[in-house]
Amino acid sequence: MMNRIDSVTSELTTLLTNNNTEENIGEAYIHLYGVSHFCALLAMKRNLDIELSSIMGLLHDIYTYTHGYDKQHGILGAEIADALLKKINIFTDEEISIVCIAISNHSDKKNIHDTYSELLKDADSVQNFLEAPFSELKHKKRIKSVLKEIGITVKLKEIINSQTSDTSQ
Ligand SMILES: [Fe+2]
Repeated sequence: MMNRIDSVTSELTTLLTNNNTEENIGEAYIHLYGVSHFCALLAMKRNLDIELSSIMGLLHDIYTYTHGYDKQHGILGAEIADALLKKINIFTDEEISIVCIAISNHSDKKNIHDTYSELLKDADSVQNFLEAPFSELKHKKRIKSVLKEIGITVKLKEIINSQTSDTSQ
């Protein structure tokens, strides 16, 4: 029998394949899997549900990767995730609601929501940072605090500056 994360990724793959060119799919997988793995890691650190955390990571930008970016993609994506999770019929209503509330809140990085919403926002911010560690930072405070939480106290400014010297010659 497939485990529950595999059941979700199988549905996710179908949705992504039907709505993307091959090039876009690569980008979608990098971000969604990256965020999902960071969610799992932070769930272990924070004693939260690892499986549900992985799943919210996998589905959090599902609207963007099937319809294109929209400011409301969190809320709209939560509706798609809700339908997907109900369709595969292996999650309780409570589990679905934990996942979908986090997805619906994840774009609002400035405010603080429940523990799972915050976990997803943290994982999303860290994945964006690690995919391009030398560019200007978004959500610096959040990234700093997550790195500190896992024992990394390096100065972000130094990381960025280490790669921004002139290389044009
Ligand atoms: Fe994201």
